Amino acid sequence: MRHPAITFTLLLLILSSCHLGGGKSSDYPALLPMPEEVVWQDGGVVPLTKGHTIVLPSADERYRILVEGLNADLSKTGLPTLELTPEYTYGSVICTIDAKELTTPGAYTLSVKRGGIRITAADEDGIGYALQTLRQLILPSGIPTVEIKDKPRLEYRGLMLDESRHFFGVEEVKKLLDEMQRYKLNRLHWHLTDAGGWRLEIKSRPLLTERTAYRTESDWVKWWIEGDRRYAKEGTPGAYGGYYTQEQAREIVAYAAARGITVIPEIEMPGHSEEVLHAYPVLSCSGRARRGESDFCIGNPMSYEFLRDVLSEVYDIFPSAYIHLGGDEAGKQAWKSCPKCREVMRRAKLKDVDELQSYFIHRMGEMIEKDGRHFIGWDEILEGGLAPGAIVMSWRGMEGGLRAARSGHQVIMTPSPQCYLDYYQEDPLSVDYESNEGYCDLAQTYALDPVPEELTPEECTLVKGVQGNMWTEYVKTSEALEYKIFPRLLAIAEIGWTPQEKRSWEDFRIRVNRHIPLLHERDIRAYDLTNGLRSETEVDRDAGLTRVRWTTELYPCEMRYRVDGKVPEMSDPQIREDETIEVRDSADIVVRQFCNGEPVGDPVTLRVDHHRAIGKPIRWETPVEGKYSGGGFETVLTDGYRGSVSFGDGRWYGNIVTPSNIGILDMGEETLISKVSTRCMHNTIPGIYAPEWVELSVSSDGEEWTVVDRIKSTLDPADRKLHFETFTFYPHTTCRYLRIRYEEAQRGRFLFADELVVW
Ligand code: ACM
Ligand code: ZN
Repeated sequence: MRHPAITFTLLLLILSSCHLGGGKSSDYPALLPMPEEVVWQDGGVVPLTKGHTIVLPSADERYRILVEGLNADLSKTGLPTLELTPEYTYGSVICTIDAKELTTPGAYTLSVKRGGIRITAADEDGIGYALQTLRQLILPSGIPTVEIKDKPRLEYRGLMLDESRHFFGVEEVKKLLDEMQRYKLNRLHWHLTDAGGWRLEIKSRPLLTERTAYRTESDWVKWWIEGDRRYAKEGTPGAYGGYYTQEQAREIVAYAAARGITVIPEIEMPGHSEEVLHAYPVLSCSGRARRGESDFCIGNPMSYEFLRDVLSEVYDIFPSAYIHLGGDEAGKQAWKSCPKCREVMRRAKLKDVDELQSYFIHRMGEMIEKDGRHFIGWDEILEGGLAPGAIVMSWRGMEGGLRAARSGHQVIMTPSPQCYLDYYQEDPLSVDYESNEGYCDLAQTYALDPVPEELTPEECTLVKGVQGNMWTEYVKTSEALEYKIFPRLLAIAEIGWTPQEKRSWEDFRIRVNRHIPLLHERDIRAYDLTNGLRSETEVDRDAGLTRVRWTTELYPCEMRYRVDGKVPEMSDPQIREDETIEVRDSADIVVRQFCNGEPVGDPVTLRVDHHRAIGKPIRWETPVEGKYSGGGFETVLTDGYRGSVSFGDGRWYGNIVTPSNIGILDMGEETLISKVSTRCMHNTIPGIYAPEWVELSVSSDGEEWTVVDRIKSTLDPADRKLHFETFTFYPHTTCRYLRIRYEEAQRGRFLFADELVVW
């Protein structure tokens, strides 16, 4: 290990003067989402004194609630509240609607001068948005003078809340709606039905809530993954769950509407419907709702009668123009052998069950359109041809959204991982809770542009919005829910609101760090960004070294590091974001963050090996398949790039098609090998298991092999926590070929292996 060569370039914090009037960002309130145009004035701060008034366009209830919110914030800051008056007096806050001047729905201007505060908006929503901005402008001394021109980039800015897997109740939903209002989000997509439990009272089908709003077990792994999957009747001892009465659901719809938010209910079909089939087994293909049956029988007329009845009550509760029909991840298996489903396929000349799903979605879409509503579905609704009028919610990346837009359909972008709020947003090794999938930190979410450049200007107009999806399989409490949603939802809010060219991670990072204490003050238990250290490596084969850069989400903060595996102190050297650490052989780089001289969060260790097999190919004797090739199965283990804590980072060798993974590495010539190591991931929730054992053999001719060692895993396959296990071999011999064999204990388990390090 040589001493790192450090290069300095100026750290450019983009405190652009058009946003901040050339001043320091910390002088001004942190606006989030960033408005389209902000020009800070040099008139100082307008002190709001007692007797200040506010004039509104009408006596509408919604305005009254808006002023209540504003006044609550003024009081908290120690400022006098605003009196509602019908007429303008000197120094009033005056709000008017001018739909001729401002034509984009939701647009507004906000002018803060010493003589008063003037808001002009295109509509009611615009007044609401302006008042949210005004709330963010409050300083203990008053409101800083400023001229703001603003409008939403995208029409639909949403949060999806899954209350089937875990149920949170009226008060928690209202708390989330309050925060959505503050950050100018305007759609709550409410996932109310799924295997985890049916959550909405349906008067014509009472068994839905009587039989399946409660289950035997709260823990998702015990209940779902390990296969208990039993429901419990309401009132049974130990029953876990709950549901919304129609009255409660209406209360939430009204509460949201008063805050400019539309609630879009999701009634899942044809898949993800185990709970429906449990309550009404006759709607399944088998008629008995066998374990594993998740889909409505498409050939049974009773399915349509049931859905018609449910939807008619849903329409009555939810005035939303859009209803979400789910449509994702249907199992489709039972349809293949069901006489009723097969009969539909025969009559409608459908060639497979994908077309049967499409037939069903078309039919339901027609029903909804006839009823005067429109429908949204997950991107599977594209399979087998899209129903007219359908809006596609693109979740398996952006591809579905791009396809839909190219075929003239409206799209809401909710791609995983960027929009999946159930993913870890902090270093998964720093926490001890379980999560669905991988890792997607705030910076990665923020980097999403939901209107990609490859679309034509016309297609771009079809991208209606963006949404964060909060799936709750592993989110049991309100505290955990808020911790997962925040602050990533603030990134979604800015993605949906702020023009792309005005967005900057550097600037957002500063503002979001200033909003976290504000969230905490409002009792939102947001993640505080303390475990967001991230490294980026660059393997330079020509120079024979690997460079490492470090970034963090905390601001302000200093990073300090060591290269000997020990935990850094304040006296250790600092590493800035524009500097690199260079490694010519091996190093254990440890980085730790400090704020005001105090360590914050967990130190992060990165092992770097610029080793001898970099660039040497591996030939696999066993079949390899799938998308986890890290850029190529032959090169992924010897490219010098190590997999991170996220299995989806494109750096891992991931394979599930065979329990044995046998690869042969050719060093190109006889080489004295002293040490070989390989690291594997253990992350059972997405099905990744450390191998039962790993074996290394060596050979000079590729024909006669000598086994160096077979090393067994020390991990318990039942351990659900994320682990990494390194297997290290010491051949101390000359050879040309190395044969590595990873053996999974069972078929159907994913092997995730990363760099095969050879010294
Ligand atoms: C989804 O995540 N299944 C839409
Ligand atoms: Zn059927």
